[in-house]
Parts: sequence; structure tokens; C-alpha cells
Amino acid sequence: MHFENTPAFAASLDSNDPLKDFRNRFIIPQSAGKDKIYFLGNSLGLQPKSTSEYIRQIMDDWGRYGVESFFEAPEPWMDYHGSLTGTLSEVMGCLPQELTVMNNLTVNLHLMLVSFYRPQGKRYKILCEAKAFPSDQYMLETHVKHHGFDPQDAIVEVKPREGEQTLRTEDILQQIIAHRDELALVFLGGIHYYSGQVLDMHTITRMAQQAGAKVGFDLAHAAGNIEMRLHDWNLDFACWCSYKYLNSGPGAVAGAYIHERYHADLQMQRFAGWWGYDKATRFKMEQGFKPMLSAEGWQLGTPPLILYACHRAALDEIKAAGWDRIQLKRKLLTKYLWFVLDEVNKIQTKPVLSCITPRNQTEQGSQVSMNMLSSGKEVHRQLTEAGFYVDWREPSVIRLAPVPLYNTFAEVWQFGQTLKSILQASTNS
Ligand SMILES: Cc1ncc(COP(=O)(O)O)c(C=O)c1O
Repeated sequence: MHFENTPAFAASLDSNDPLKDFRNRFIIPQSAGKDKIYFLGNSLGLQPKSTSEYIRQIMDDWGRYGVESFFEAPEPWMDYHGSLTGTLSEVMGCLPQELTVMNNLTVNLHLMLVSFYRPQGKRYKILCEAKAFPSDQYMLETHVKHHGFDPQDAIVEVKPREGEQTLRTEDILQQIIAHRDELALVFLGGIHYYSGQVLDMHTITRMAQQAGAKVGFDLAHAAGNIEMRLHDWNLDFACWCSYKYLNSGPGAVAGAYIHERYHADLQMQRFAGWWGYDKATRFKMEQGFKPMLSAEGWQLGTPPLILYACHRAALDEIKAAGWDRIQLKRKLLTKYLWFVLDEVNKIQTKPVLSCITPRNQTEQGSQVSMNMLSSGKEVHRQLTEAGFYVDWREPSVIRLAPVPLYNTFAEVWQFGQTLKSILQASTNS
């Protein structure tokens, strides 16, 4: 498609957008009665208008049936988990029984490491990316120590090459090969939180498994953002949060995927709780842990029904919009953003920004991380003042992520115009 940097062109993309009505199903932050431009779905997705209704239903059940809600509510709480896994399994590209909704992301990562980081002999190392999200770093560090190893030795970090900002698949593969007899686990972010780079999870998984390691991904920035095929790519496990592109609210209940080949493996180590116990006999309350033979076998305690309700409301919006249509719009919206940023870069003889997110479409999702070549913090301040929600990451990056369910092409165009005027004013002053 030939793009134009005009409001009329952006408006025509919006009027032809099959998802255009979905924006009205979300609460858009306001200022002086006007919609603000929210590009922070990579941080906290916006609230569906239906969420409070779904919560109210749980509150009504609780008021009306008390604990009997688990069985007597119009939608019995006992089965509520099952109403989440259908749409979520489509989004994540796995079987419904391969995922479970529980806890938060960091807790789930710890639980998965208990099962999938099983150092043996000289195979005790973990390969991860340098500058992984801090919670992931602390999680890896403490597991390694828990097994009696020194993180400096046991954690192998893959870094971008000198002068580069993102990882090359070949460098990850090369490190896997170099440490092939020592790796117990390869653990990476499917999309890096800072650069927005999407990794080739399929190839990395294949190579890591060939080297004899288990493979897991942190999908915090990928879930609800990009298409994935976790089952076909054969990942051993993955974890994600649901408050970013899955719009399920602050502190939302998170998700974990475990490949089905592990479900009936009773030798596998895990930290267990009664909610992971065989559903049919759970209430016999007997000694000896007998897991459910699905990812739900990793659940610990009583599910947070109110958080489930938030998640369900958001997943129902995704279902109504259609995951395929969301993906089509995501690609077009991001492409238009890149086009608009290229136009901004034409205002002067030399570029004013350089995106560290890869330009290659297979390596990008909604997020674009712009490295501001001068006065970045001031530009961010002025963008915020002008009504844009974008974020600042030291030393010089502005991150933004237009989201197909509630952002428009007109907003992307508007962003380009505002950024251009800010940059022009700063160079003229
Ligand atoms: C990539 C990544 N991993 C882990 C976390 C931590 O998630 P939580 O605080 O939900 O445990 C985040 C939070 O933003 C994240 O972006």
C-alpha cells in the first residue's frame, strides 16, 4: 500500500478499518473532555468498558450464593478457568490444556524454573539475554544460587554486537553451540521490553533442544501482541502477564504454557498446591500430590475470581474482534507508524531519531523504541504535555505501542505531526 502523511489518508485508513468500533468499547483517558492519545498498551493496556460488568457478576454471585458460587453461580466459579483458555489458546498458539491462568508473571517464572531448570553434572548453565527485564534477572540469579552455583559462572548472557542494539539470531545460536554440553536451560524474552525486538523462538527452541537444553520464554511483551505458535514451535514452557496487550488490568492474573508432553510426567519436579490436584478427587483431601494432567496441574491455590473476571472481559473483546483481524490491523498500524517516523526524520538534513526496534517486520510487534538523537527527555516531556502517553527509558529511548483494538491511524498521524513540530522548534531555538 502506498502511504500518505496526511490527515485525510489516515482518516481513510480508519474508516476502512473493520475494527474501528472496538475503540468505543474501551475507556480512553481524557483531558479537558478530550481523548488523550494512549500508546502505552505495552505497559498497561486500557480498560474494556465491559470489565466492571464482569466484576459485578462475580460480586453478585458472591452476595447471592456465597461459597456455593463455585457450583451454583450461573457460570460456576469452578469452571471459570475454562472460559479463559479458549481465546487465550488461540492467541498463544497452543492447546487449551497447555495453558493455565494463575498468579503473576514473576511467580510463574519461579514455578517453571522449579520444573525446567534441573541442573545435572556439568549441565547447569542458563543462557539468557543481557539486560533481560530485572525481575527475570533476579529470578534466574536466585534459582542458580538455590542450586548452589555462582551466577557469574552459571548464567551465560548473549549481547548485541558492539555498536548494535538488538540480538542476532545467529549469535544466540552460536552461543548455544558453544555451551552445548553445559546448558540446562535457554531462557529469553520473546519480545525484548526495551528494544521491542521479536526473537525467532522457533529456531532458537529447535537449536536449544538439539543441544539438550530445556527452553522457555518470557512472553510479557508478546502475549496479545504478535501471532505465536507455542505448541508447534515446541517450546517447553512460557509465561506472560495479562495487563499489557491483554488489557486485563493492573496486577492481572498471569498465564503459563507447558507443552503437553510434560503433563503426565509424574517424575517431574514441581511446587504443588491443592488447586493443581486432580479435580475429580481434590475434595477428598488425601495425602500425596496427584496433579491434574494438564498445565492446570501447576496451579497452587484458590483462583482470584475478580481477576479472572477482568481477564475474561478483555479476552471476550479479543474474541469479538477476531485474533486474525487484530493481527492484520496491528501490522498495518505499525507499518504506518514506521512510515510516519521516516517522514519525521526528513525534516532535517540528518536524522533526529533512530529506531532500535528492528525494521524487519518478522522482528517487530506493536512497540517501536525510538532512540532520540538529541534532547530526548525534553521531547518526551513535551509529548506528554501535548497529550500523548509514551514512555521514557534511560538513556535516550521513547517507547510507544499503538494497539489495534483501541488506537487509530489518525492518532499515529497526529503523533508524527506533534513530534515533528517539537523537534523543529527545538532545533530553531
Ligand atoms: C519482560 C517482563 N518480564 C517480567 C515482568 C514482571 O512481571 P510481574 O511484575 O507481573 O511479575 C515484566 C513487567 O513488566 C516484564 O515486562
